[in-house]
Amino acid sequence: MTDVMPQGGGSPVRLADQAFLPRSIRDDFPILATAQGGEPLVYLDNAATAQKPRAVLDALVDYYSTANSNVGRGYYRLSMASTDRYEEARETVRQALGAEHADEIVFTRGTTDAVNLIADGLGARLVGRGDQVVVTGMEHNSNLLPWRRLCERAGAELVVAPVDERGAVDAAAFAAVLGPRVRIAAVAHVSNVLGTVNPVREMIAEAHRRGVPVVVDGAQAVPHAPVDVRGLDADLYCFSGHKAYGPMGTGVLYGRRDLLAELPPYQVGGGTVKGVSHTEPVRYVPVPARFEAGTPNVAGAVGLAAALRYVRDLGWDAVRRHDEALVRHAVESLRRIRGVRVVGDPAAAPSGIVSFVVDGIHPYDVGGHLDRHGVAVRSGVHCASTFLDEMGLLGTVRMSFAVYNTADEIDVLADALRSVRPGSWTTDHPTTRFL
Ligand code: ALA
Repeated sequence: MTDVMPQGGGSPVRLADQAFLPRSIRDDFPILATAQGGEPLVYLDNAATAQKPRAVLDALVDYYSTANSNVGRGYYRLSMASTDRYEEARETVRQALGAEHADEIVFTRGTTDAVNLIADGLGARLVGRGDQVVVTGMEHNSNLLPWRRLCERAGAELVVAPVDERGAVDAAAFAAVLGPRVRIAAVAHVSNVLGTVNPVREMIAEAHRRGVPVVVDGAQAVPHAPVDVRGLDADLYCFSGHKAYGPMGTGVLYGRRDLLAELPPYQVGGGTVKGVSHTEPVRYVPVPARFEAGTPNVAGAVGLAAALRYVRDLGWDAVRRHDEALVRHAVESLRRIRGVRVVGDPAAAPSGIVSFVVDGIHPYDVGGHLDRHGVAVRSGVHCASTFLDEMGLLGTVRMSFAVYNTADEIDVLADALRSVRPGSWTTDHPTTRFL
């Protein structure tokens, strides 16, 4: 952000102020009016989970107040109304992702659940002894451990595509690891540690040239930009509803119809079968119900649809400009503080994440100090210790933004950082980390 002094002195005018979404958005999020230990809450941990607008809270209350009943199982009007709401939510997700068919949208508990579903079904089907599975060096554990376990079980090899000095995966470097033994690749769209955006369209094209399907972890992408699964030519794309202003315990797996149709169920149980006897082979229903065993989180799906509509109505261009302005302001503010170093180049393609380290101070001490000023950030390894190890870092402190954050909140963080000192993590447990 560029600051200019107005003629005749006075306070600096922030040129990028026009880029911010209106502050009145904050009124849509009741939790933002709360305090933490007497300090106003400055919530900058949106990559872990975003706060929920009233539109989502109201949708949950409305669903439970007017339509609660099980779906696809009741031959009575209330159940049919509930089923309709559930399927309308699926249609909203379809539109948000630009998918062709609503039955390509599977509701899950989150990205982790979706990746496990794919690794368990498609992975186990495609990957055998001596084959290879490709991931990138920046994966969150949720898009790493299911593939590691698959490889261990199948006797296959996990191959890691390198991350370059910008903290992103280069499409050519990715292509270079796609040898003849690779059966599937799993890649992050946006790094949850640095916010760098991978060229997933090119990466998918490289994989498809070699006949390799790609699973994209879109958990950090969907809250910040419109994702078009057909434009990306995505095979499988996952995201978490709760990071996109939706309820906890919600997520989505998009899968191309032909790919999903080949997959056996992940979990089996109520709602997944056409016919079952004690002796005959079980006949499963088609997707998506085949992958939604048991009573689904209907209210969650309804709330997620409300969240997706909420962001869509703000306008993606406005959201992008807001993200860019926040990231630039954060980077410039941090660069002015002695001993603070921004990791990577978050301003290159802003996606709402800025990670930094403070010389000589353990990230948990920084996180605890900021908390005492009411500022909530994530500090540590962000469930991606392998990536932190690659970068030679114990951990980072991560600011992550949402539509309601303001430049003033970044200033609160920056002011607080000026008084951070080494604490007991730094002195007593300088190399310990777990989160
Ligand atoms: N995956 C979430 C994060 O990066 C929890 O913080």
